[in-house]
Amino acid sequence: MKILILGSNGRLGSALTRSWSKFAEREMIPLTRAEVDFSDPEKAEAVLEALTFGTGDVIVNCAAATDVDGCERDRDMARRINAEAPGRIARLCAARGARLVHIGTDYVFDGMLDRPYTEEDQANPLSHYGVTKLEGDREVLAASPQHCVARVSWVFGPDKPSFVDAIVRRALTNPDAAAVHDKTSSPSYTEDLALWLDEFLKAAFPGGIYHLCNGGTCSWRDYGEFALECAHRSGIPVLTTSVAPLKLSEMLAFVAVRPPRTALDTSKFTRITGITPRPWKEAVEKHFTHWRP
Ligand SMILES: NC(=O)c1ccc[n+]([C@@H]2O[C@H](COP(=O)([O-])OP(=O)(O)OC[C@H]3O[C@@H](n4cnc5c(N)ncnc54)[C@H](OP(=O)(O)O)[C@@H]3O)[C@@H](O)[C@H]2O)c1
Repeated sequence: MKILILGSNGRLGSALTRSWSKFAEREMIPLTRAEVDFSDPEKAEAVLEALTFGTGDVIVNCAAATDVDGCERDRDMARRINAEAPGRIARLCAARGARLVHIGTDYVFDGMLDRPYTEEDQANPLSHYGVTKLEGDREVLAASPQHCVARVSWVFGPDKPSFVDAIVRRALTNPDAAAVHDKTSSPSYTEDLALWLDEFLKAAFPGGIYHLCNGGTCSWRDYGEFALECAHRSGIPVLTTSVAPLKLSEMLAFVAVRPPRTALDTSKFTRITGITPRPWKEAVEKHFTHWRP
């Protein structure tokens, strides 16, 4: 079985490539932006067309324009990378009998619900990042009933720093920490995503949309504060474990509008696989047992 990972240098793509390379029966084919550049979707498709893959093989697309404000500034670029290229790749996979697992985002929702979003909830993106990611989801699902969209949120892990690493790194030299308290979601640990997404590689895994993240809901402030506590417990010399609250409306540097509440409901995934994602706090704790500045 061949597994092609697009965006293999990214936070999630690196974790999948590393975790799945230990299985001898799988031929891992990591592909970076330098090899398959989505900013020219036609060329990206041509590069993949020249590779040998087919029935039984899976492409996992972790590549995306993930700079939310950058997508607002360069809308054409965002559409090419997040929607047009995945659409072309999805149709190529369908023509070859291969399956595409496409990574989606909680930012397709407007964040106005007061409960976690299910796969059936109406998407209503507030940013161009969200708009183009939703277009990508739809292009992928339209290409084949076997293709999957796995929507994740607040991705963190050992391969590339994210919010929790930044807040801990800053606290090594600065005792003042602050984070937004009125924006909530569910963190997604890449080490866990590698285990959960493994299920999607099975030929019988049903196509469609799935929400995947760790259990529970938190604000950026809760998430940052817990990361600092874990770091402290792991012997990392942080100068503070408390995080002052900021309001989302005070984040004047944000260009794109962020949805306030985008926790994801993962019960569909649990129903199909029997796997219940562990709580986000357990995952963050685990992350900081291995962490080095
Ligand atoms: N990070 C989050 O909190 C979060 C939240 C919700 C959903 N997601 C989704 O999760 C997926 C993985 O995100 P991540 O956290 O791993 O982000 P990431 O670290 O930014 O990875 C994105 C990957 O896309 C690649 N890429 C960017 N522009 C490209 C282009 N023009 N052509 C080909 N590849 C390109 C990047 O390549 P380089 O390494 O060369 O830059 C990188 O490998 C994405 O679909 C994202 O929308 C992420």
